[in-house]
Amino acid sequence: MNNIRIALDGPAAAGKSTAAKKIAEKLGFIYIDTGAMYRTLTLKAVNQQIDPKNEQALYDLLMNTVIELKPGEDGQLVFLDGKEVTRDIREQRVTKHVSDVALHKAVRSEMVKRQQKLLKNGGIVMDGRDIGTAVIPDAELKIFMSATAEERARRRFEEHQSQGIKSDLQQLKSEIEERDYIDSTREVSPLTKAEDAIELDTTHMSIDEVVNKVTELAAGRGAVQ
Ligand code: CDP
Ligand code: CDP
Repeated sequence: MNNIRIALDGPAAAGKSTAAKKIAEKLGFIYIDTGAMYRTLTLKAVNQQIDPKNEQALYDLLMNTVIELKPGEDGQLVFLDGKEVTRDIREQRVTKHVSDVALHKAVRSEMVKRQQKLLKNGGIVMDGRDIGTAVIPDAELKIFMSATAEERARRRFEEHQSQGIKSDLQQLKSEIEERDYIDSTREVSPLTKAEDAIELDTTHMSIDEVVNKVTELAAGRGAVQ
């Protein structure tokens, strides 16, 4: 291992991917967004009208699916069987079903296997729901990033506004809460703070404050820039 591994977990819209991307830039690390992998499988399942409750069909689909994450100029690019789907995986029709797809044991163990193959020599920031508990249980630094549901819904709402996407604040809040509920109550590696994770409540923190705090902690755990 040449450098440290940072595991970043937390509920929807806590600011994980925004912070992770900047932390990786600052440290010269690779950023891996594991949520994008579950979203990509969900996109393919939705397109093929596969029932998100059908574990066997989803597993078979995943075994015939190539998901690639590549660095782009403006962040990570996502490819499904060779076709770029970076924007498509953020659509509502995917978000609505992703937690149902992600709760299956067979799907999760294959995803975890693929994610662990990406770890190589460290120098990595990986974000998701089970990174500190299942994917990198021995990560040098684990962060559990939280914020109130009100603040998380407000952040997603502002993001949609700035992108010209129509949305309703209350509806966003209930969708976020529903996804958090499914993610935290599933049987296999539910969203939970690892015992040795540092909790960061970002409700009143700016992105820069979050990035500075995590890079400071990373330096304390031996990150080499
Ligand atoms: O960015 P956002 O908070 O909307 O979610 P995401 O990180 O893109 O993840 C989408 C969904 O994938 C989550 O709500 C989980 O159901 C699932 N997921 C997971 O189960 N385990 C992970 N390591 C990452 C995501
Ligand atoms: O990856 P995750 O779903 O946890 O959240 P995100 O997509 O990185 O962040 C949701 C939105 O909150 C983005 O538009 C960020 O710019 C904004 N935000 C943040 O991430 N952190 C703060 N401390 C304040 C705002």
